[in-house]
Amino acid sequence: MRYLPEIFANNRRWAEAVRRERPGYLPGLNVSQNPRFLWIGCSDSRVPANEICGLQPGEMFKHRNVANLVRENDPNCQAVIQYAVHTLKVRHIVVCGHYHCGGVRAAMDDTPQDGPLAGWLAPVRDLRQHEGSSLAGLDSEEQRWNRLCELNVIEQVRSLAALPLVRQTWDEGRPLSLHGWMYEFHTGLLHDLDTSISGPQATAPS
Ligand code: CO
Repeated sequence: MRYLPEIFANNRRWAEAVRRERPGYLPGLNVSQNPRFLWIGCSDSRVPANEICGLQPGEMFKHRNVANLVRENDPNCQAVIQYAVHTLKVRHIVVCGHYHCGGVRAAMDDTPQDGPLAGWLAPVRDLRQHEGSSLAGLDSEEQRWNRLCELNVIEQVRSLAALPLVRQTWDEGRPLSLHGWMYEFHTGLLHDLDTSISGPQATAPS
């Protein structure tokens, strides 16, 4: 149990430092938040979203789940998107995956799995089957794994573009752009997958 008191001590140091360096900043968060974008990322502990983007509390609205999936039948994710788009009026939604994703890796495993995780990862498993021939052309299992991580992000951006919540925003003429990014642990760098979509005209079946 030593670990938890340490977290409270860390928290006090952090809060004191912020209050000292930016007086008024934390009390201002009591009043409102004004995030510029919604981040949909993996739950992975190695992806500290605010830190890698250089953003402070209040600047990024977030939803995280295993393998950064956007599913129309997931009320959790849909509620976050609704609040972000309709109430906070964010102008960008970023799906950020990462290489060496354990969730994607689990979906590549051919041994039968059970429990909620197996059901949750079923769309990634389907994607892997669908992309089987393109993945087979890669040299190593690690390359196939990392390519599937990328393809999964591209797929989630497409799913976002098809959501009624997103279509409605575009129909109303409000600006909203969708983006697919990847994060790489060993360099600490973000990569844009150039899969951005800014309106319904850009979402013709490919
Ligand atoms: Co992951």
